[in-house]
Amino acid sequence: MEKEISITPALEIHDLTVAFDRKPVLWNIDLKLPQGKLVGIIGPNGAGKSTLIKAVMGLLPLSSGFAKLFDQDLNDIRTRVSYVPQRESVDWDFPASVLDVVLMGRYGKLGLFNRPRKADRDAAMDCLKQVGMEQYAHRQISQLSGGQQQRTFLARALAQQADIYFMDEPFAGVDAATEKAIIELLRNMTQANKTVIVVHHDLQSVPQYFDWVILLNTRLIACGPTASTFTQSNLQETYGGKLTLLSDVGDLIKRESFPNREGSAKQAL
Ligand SMILES: Nc1ncnc2c1ncn2[C@@H]1O[C@H](COP(=O)(O)OP(=O)(O)O)[C@@H](O)[C@H]1O
Ligand SMILES: [Mg+2]
Repeated sequence: MEKEISITPALEIHDLTVAFDRKPVLWNIDLKLPQGKLVGIIGPNGAGKSTLIKAVMGLLPLSSGFAKLFDQDLNDIRTRVSYVPQRESVDWDFPASVLDVVLMGRYGKLGLFNRPRKADRDAAMDCLKQVGMEQYAHRQISQLSGGQQQRTFLARALAQQADIYFMDEPFAGVDAATEKAIIELLRNMTQANKTVIVVHHDLQSVPQYFDWVILLNTRLIACGPTASTFTQSNLQETYGGKLTLLSDVGDLIKRESFPNREGSAKQAL
């Protein structure tokens, strides 16, 4: 416990409010995340999940508050921070090959005016391999399926070799086998003390996937270790009236507390 307290938080958000047209979509958010965790951001559509990440990434004006990464301002540690936006928000007609996109992840290390060297290409190819996309390296990104585009973005993030990763719905359009492989990859990253924060939609897989969860619905409902935070009553508060869905999750949580955990969440589907 003491160790946790003495380590600088990967992310600290204090008193954060974001409004569009004077309507707050995030209200007075306070939270801290420890380093080296796989963290899920959970909440209904329109809860402000994407807005929270964009606010931390300095992409939106804040009405109040601040975010710090490793106790520093974003601008001072930008190269240590990686952001994978929601796929729909990206212009995929942009003429670039898969390898070009992944190499963009190296620019923070390269500096803007240095051409990528063989070592950078090799590193980029290695990242493509990790997401199972090496055979598409020379394909135009416009010609990829949604899941392949998503994996290309993940490879770019890996190439960045950051310390903290924000990923907005990285599993949208990705098949189940690939999703499993990517979760495994993210888990390995946290073993190397990387912090990985993922906006995630599928409540069923939350207890399997995440060490920590942030439950959000304009306000912060809860933030903490999954076991103590992903509870029926917190979910009730996060999702309000959607009861059928919630009772399913209640069943899941009960099942999860049995020792025979292997595969139980997937079987529940
Ligand atoms: N640029 C914007 N201008 C106005 N409203 C926005 C803008 N971006 C998001 N919103 C609104 O803010 C709320 C939160 O959006 P978002 O963060 O995208 O939700 P989530 O990612 O949880 O689905 C939604 O009601 C959305 O309509
Ligand atoms: Mg979103």
